[in-house]
This record gives sequence, C-alpha cells and structure tokens, in this order.
Amino acid sequence: MRPALLDLVGRMTDDDLPAYVHDLPGLRAHVHAIRAALPERVELLYATKANSDPRILRTLAGHVDGFEVASGGELSHVRGLTPDQPISFGGPGKTEAELTFALHAGVERLHVESEQELRLVTTVPGDGPVNVLLRVNLPVDLGQVALAMGGHPSPFGMDPAQLDRCLEVIAADPRIRLRGLHFHLASGLQAKAQLALVDKVLIWSQDWAHERGVDLAEVNVGGGMGVDYGHPHKVFDWSAFGVGLRRILARHPHLTLRIEPGRSVTAYCGWYVTQVLDIKFSRGEAFAVLRGGTHHLRTPAAKQHDQPFEVIPDDAWLRPWNRPEARDEPVTLVGQLCTPKDVLARRVMVERLRVGDRVAFAMAGAYAWNISHHAFLMHPQPTFHHVDDVVVSVQGDHARQMS
Ligand SMILES: Cc1ncc(COP(=O)(O)O)c(C=O)c1O
Repeated sequence: MRPALLDLVGRMTDDDLPAYVHDLPGLRAHVHAIRAALPERVELLYATKANSDPRILRTLAGHVDGFEVASGGELSHVRGLTPDQPISFGGPGKTEAELTFALHAGVERLHVESEQELRLVTTVPGDGPVNVLLRVNLPVDLGQVALAMGGHPSPFGMDPAQLDRCLEVIAADPRIRLRGLHFHLASGLQAKAQLALVDKVLIWSQDWAHERGVDLAEVNVGGGMGVDYGHPHKVFDWSAFGVGLRRILARHPHLTLRIEPGRSVTAYCGWYVTQVLDIKFSRGEAFAVLRGGTHHLRTPAAKQHDQPFEVIPDDAWLRPWNRPEARDEPVTLVGQLCTPKDVLARRVMVERLRVGDRVAFAMAGAYAWNISHHAFLMHPQPTFHHVDDVVVSVQGDHARQMS
C-alpha cells in the first residue's frame, strides 16, 4: 500500500472498517500509461460494469475515448456524471424501454446482440441516425481462459450465419448505419494471446465485409485483458500489446480498432481494508475471521482465487487475556457470513496475524463491491474513501453508502 493510503487507513477507527479505499492518482497514472501505449487508431473505452464508482468514472473520463455501458442504469449513471463522454451501449437482453432511452440519450454506438434486438431498434421512433456494431460469436478455439463469452454456444452475440438477416433489416431502415462488428470473446488473456485473437478477428471481419460488400469502418474487440490475482505485480503488458496492435493495424489501414477493458483498468486502484476479529484453530488449521467478507468483496468467491493482501499490524491490545495470533503458518481468511463459501484467501502463509490487526486486500477495484451480495446477513456496509493527488487524504463517506 502506498504511504498516502496507509496514512489514511491509520487514521480510520475500527468503526470505519471495513472500508474500500480507492487510489485515484494510481488509477490516473495507470490509465495514462495504457493510453500512451496504444496506437492512435485504437480507441479506448472503459467497461463501466467493472466499477461504476462516480469518482473513478470522473478520473477516467479525461483519459479514455468513452464508456461502454451494459444497461439503462449504467447509461443514465454515466450520462449524468460525464455528459460529454461518448457512450457505447452493449450487453444482452436490452429492453424496448432501454433502447428507447439509449436512442434518445444519443448513444454513440449500439452493440446489437441479435436480430430480435435489431428489429426492436427499428420500432423505436426517432430520426436517427443509429450507429450500430453487430456483436459476433466467432467459432474460435480460445484455449484455457478465465471466462469465455464466445467461441462456443453462448447467449452473447450472434453466430456468423445470423449476420445476413441483420444486413437485410439494416438495409430496410435508412436510420440504421452499420459501422462495424463487435467481439468480446474471452476474459483473462495476456498480451500475446490477446494479439493473436485480435489478429484472427480482424482478418475474419475484413473477409466477411469484403464478401458482403460492407464498408467496415470499425471493429470493437471488447475487453478481457488479463489480471493475475496470484501475481499482483504482473500487470497486463500494455506496451507489448500496443506494439503488436500497431503491427496488426498496418495490415488494416482503413479500420478503427476499439477496445473496452474493465478489470485491467481499475482492479489495481481499489483496496478492501478490514480487521481480524478472531483467530481460531480447527483441527490444527488456522482461520482468521474478519469484519465483512465476500458480501462486500465477492471477487475471490466468484473467481475462486486467493485475494492478495497485506497485513497492517496494530499493536494496541488492551484486553486482559492473551492476544490470539497465528505465526509463521498458513491461515485461511474468512468473513462473517454463515457459509463455508465466505473465504477471501485460503491457507496463505503469514509471518504473524493477530486479533485486531488490519488486513488490506489488494486488487479490489474491479468486480468487487458492485458484484457482491450486500444484503446477505444484514451486516453494516463498508465505508468508501478516495485518496487523491491534491488532497492527500480524502474524507470517507461515513454514511456507509456509495457516493
Ligand atoms: C461486452 C463486454 N465488454 C467488455 C467487458 C469487460 O471485460 P473485462 O473487465 O474482462 O476487461 C465485458 C465483461 O464482461 C463485456 O461483457
């Protein structure tokens, strides 16, 4: 944890915990480096679903080319916070009301998931134009990936054979402009594997457009840039990715490439800080019971990994009995929920962990609070804090609500 963050945590009372702490300068530097690594002809959107915290979105706004949203709720949230940012609206199961809202809100791109959805668009009144990308589920072999959205039968996008019907629908509605194709096939690919996939996708797209006489202006290859929770310092190699994209794009001189990463942008800027309430030994195995748990930070349960953490020792101990502790041994870090699934990290070696010590879980800035089941067991919600450049420590929101 950076000193500014540690300083903030040091000034929190036990009642402030658990707390989400967001490192906005860290996020700014990270997204700046991502943008700098990418060729100009690559447009960078941020996938809002990864973390829609308002201060994170405002921090990103100056560095990205727009936001990808996947619901009417995200659309209204992003539009309200950053009215001038271009928005692409994607995701399955868009309702008629959402499409109407999207078209009236002037979304820059609509990522169409099916012929049914496209036909719904044709029924929404308005003068247009409506710029669409058709989402395709390419039959590619993705190998071992963290999450596969395509490459096999899936509810996301369309089989290539289904695109022709969409072309007919588009030809019959002068408001709809086909800008290109959209793909989001997998999550968790490192730079080399991402580049190989982008290469395949672009070759396929150009061949398809050529055969159909379509003027292909852009291809969005989605997000899914790998984040390695087992090795927090092994960040996706954006430089190698940028170099590779430059090489690939040289073969597609008229194409604009779009990417819409989420996890790899915000994962590193978030910390979930909590405290050890109890240390127990069950048949010789150490368990640390923490304030909070996977109802605040579902990521390790959802992805079945150990969330990386740092111990922040707290030497104050005023109780008249011996302080329970684990020393030089593996400890399983669990939360307060009455379920064996409430595990944040399993059998991780610690030098020393005592009741009252604080634990800061790293990489909690994406798919963390916003994918968690907050209401289960009705424990208090975490407090939320943002560290910024200008103000070294920023007030948390003690109302225990997302501001
Ligand atoms: C269509 C689409 N684009 C982008 C993303 C962002 O993916 P990631 O957070 O893995 O970069 C997702 C994630 O599910 C998605 O479904």
